[in-house]
This record gives sequence, C-alpha cells and structure tokens, in this order.
Amino acid sequence: LTDTTSLLLSRIRDVADYPEPGVMFKDITPLLADPAAFMALTEALAGIAADTGATKVVGLEARGFILGAPVAVRAGLGFIPVRKAGKLPGATLRQAYDLEYGSAEIELHAEDLTTGDRVLIVDDVLATGGTAEAAAQLIQRAGAEVSGIAVLMELGFLGGRARLTPSLDGAPLTALLQL
Ligand code: PRP
Ligand code: MG
Repeated sequence: LTDTTSLLLSRIRDVADYPEPGVMFKDITPLLADPAAFMALTEALAGIAADTGATKVVGLEARGFILGAPVAVRAGLGFIPVRKAGKLPGATLRQAYDLEYGSAEIELHAEDLTTGDRVLIVDDVLATGGTAEAAAQLIQRAGAEVSGIAVLMELGFLGGRARLTPSLDGAPLTALLQL
C-alpha cells in the first residue's frame, strides 16, 4: 500500500448493519474531518482529472458533491452537479436507474455541458454501478464525452465495473481503494 492508500483506508469507518441488517456501511466522515486525508484524496482525484484530459467535473449528489467540488477547484475546472430529480430549476435531462428495491432518477442541467466537453465523474463509492451508469448516460445525452469515472472506493463484489464498462467507451474507471 502507498502512504496515500493507507491514510485513506485508515480514515474510513466500517459501520455494521447500516442502513439495514447485514450491510457493512463505509463511512467517509472521519476522512472528511481529517484535513491531511481530505487533501490527499482531493489531490489524487484531481490528478485523474488531469490525466484523463477532463474539461469539467461532475459530482453525484450527495456524497459526490463533497468530493467532487474541491477536485474541480484543484484541477482548475468547472463543477457540474448531477442531482436527484426535482432539485434543478432549469431545463434538465433526466435518467432513471435501478436500485436494490425500486428505482430512482437523476438530473443534469442540459446547458452545462457541450460537445467537446470531456467530463470526469466523481463519487465516493461504486457499488452496483447504477448511479454512475446513469450519470454517464446523462453526460452522453448532453453531447459530451466521459473522460473517466473516479471513485474513492470500489465494492468489487457487486460487479459495478462490468456493468459500467459498456457505457464508458474505453474511458478509465479508477478506484483509489478496492474493498
Ligand atoms: C450511494 C453512493 C453512490 C451510490 C453507489 O449514494 O454515494 O453514489 O450509492 O451505489 P450504486 O453503485 O449501486 O449506484 P446514495 O444515493 O445512496 O446516497 P448519497 O445521497 O448519500 O450519496
Ligand atoms: Mg451517492
């Protein structure tokens, strides 16, 4: 493990049986509260933005906002929020995705992206990949390209990577930690 990897790992708290019995929740609030760890995370994700030639950073509500906004500032790029449906006031594109039980919808202000934009999607965790897949579809529907997806943690056993690959068109999915 590199120093950054061990630092990040040491600041993620396992919470058993949350939000329901049998689930081990990965709580990032200790990491956010530690300025050295939050800075290291921001630097690592901003490096991915630069490496993939991103022109914009998209953060996924809610935890992807906390991570994505400082990454955008650090990388010198604009930040675009992808929000849960009904929260954005302007003309939006909307995309539905499956949850474990039921479904949800996310939205993007259509005017925030244009042809030629290369967008890095930032989120805290890749689980089933449903949220990130819907975000990639929104970006492509807005006429832009996905430069990559960058997450703090990938829960490999849920198969999100395989689900996402067809929507990525060769763009890299980078996870700082494999859990
Ligand atoms: C969580 C997490 C990711 C997503 C990953 O968000 O922050 O965004 O689930 O799951 P998936 O890969 O199976 O789609 P959630 O909407 O639960 O909560 P949040 O608003 O706290 O980010
Ligand atoms: Mg989320």
